[in-house]
Amino acid sequence: MSIAERDDRKTAALAGWQPSEPLVAANGDLYVHRHALARAILRGEVSQSGFGAEVVGKASTSLISLPVLYLEGQQHQEMRKATARFFAPRTVEESYRATMERETTRLMAQIRDSKGGRLDQIAMDMAVSIAAEIAGLTNHLIPGMPQRIAALLDNPPLDPKLSPAALLRILGTNLKLTAFYLCDVRPSINARRKAPREDLISHLLSIGYRDREILTEAVIFGAAGMVTTREFITIAAIHLLGQPPLRERFLTGSKEERRAILEEILRLEPVIGRLRRRADVAFDLPDGHKVEAGQHFVIDIRSVNADSSAVGACPFHLDPERTMPDPRTGGAAMGFGDGRHRCPGAFIALEESEIFLAQLLALPGLRLVGEPRMSWSELVGGYQFDECRIAID
Ligand code: HEM
Repeated sequence: MSIAERDDRKTAALAGWQPSEPLVAANGDLYVHRHALARAILRGEVSQSGFGAEVVGKASTSLISLPVLYLEGQQHQEMRKATARFFAPRTVEESYRATMERETTRLMAQIRDSKGGRLDQIAMDMAVSIAAEIAGLTNHLIPGMPQRIAALLDNPPLDPKLSPAALLRILGTNLKLTAFYLCDVRPSINARRKAPREDLISHLLSIGYRDREILTEAVIFGAAGMVTTREFITIAAIHLLGQPPLRERFLTGSKEERRAILEEILRLEPVIGRLRRRADVAFDLPDGHKVEAGQHFVIDIRSVNADSSAVGACPFHLDPERTMPDPRTGGAAMGFGDGRHRCPGAFIALEESEIFLAQLLALPGLRLVGEPRMSWSELVGGYQFDECRIAID
């Protein structure tokens, strides 16, 4: 097979991915498949309408109030500005790198002792330990926060239409939310009230947030920072284990080379495969298409990240030396989104993945056991790992 035909993607079939026209209208939504169009929309006058924003917006009377992912305008800008310091590369290097290394060493010892394990669970343990440190979710009534967060985010009720099945799911989610609050969020809030630290919960307390608002931010952190990183570490390990020369290159390369490989994997296998927005005003797209205020967009990140006018030739080939026609595009293309809601945790995610994978892949005799099991997450329009086993021979 020539390089031009080579398709290295492992999750595209699960996503049912097909090549599409740049803009496709369906069920009243505009589906966006080109990078330049997606960028214009995400940077334009639009509001968040993904991740159940419509349901969340209506839920102001329940436990849920608006966290950063759903905020817009000045409120969003202020929250991003006030929390930027927790995500800055300097803070990560100075405050979290040691935690990342310590957690990696702990998890490697666990893998060596058990001669393997469930990579998806081990990656979740890593991602939770790091994001929890940044959030300040460090005090617990009982152990098991990674499992409580994973359960909470599995199949959440996002359908705005109420049916008996949807009501049961809402009830189930509220029970899981209460367990997360009582076991993890409340003990952490109590500890930070007595002794504030340099973390998100301490900051939210300092600006007068109430417990339930801190709870919703913590849920978003769980979804945004923990589950995404679990999927990413797992898919990256699968690619690297499946291609020995790439694994060798990752292990012997510089930090920049390792970063480039990880970003290229995220470009090909976006964890968040779909972003949604709603136009606040009427405007014209760069291709001349006119959109009305209120128009809903679905940005197909898989297609956008494979748009060769933005990412160069052979877009389905995992090429660690890929250079983007416009360097401002960034190695992961829109794997971390774009515009005002672009992921603030991108640097953290890449740093912890790199530290973890460098030690994992250096374990002699490491191999995958059987085929990893994946399923589809409607919440993010992406893949999720149900089971991925590794062993050491
Ligand atoms: C590989 C791992 C990750 C991926 C693929 C990822 C991807 C994304 C994407 C695509 C968005 C934009 C959503 C939108 O525009 O609607 C986002 C937002 C966000 N991410 Fe990440 N993320 C990752 C890791 C993290 C980590 C580690 C953290 C925190 C420690 C984090 C915190 C957030 C937050 C708070 C937002 C909301 C920002 C806002 O709405 O202004 N993410 N992420």
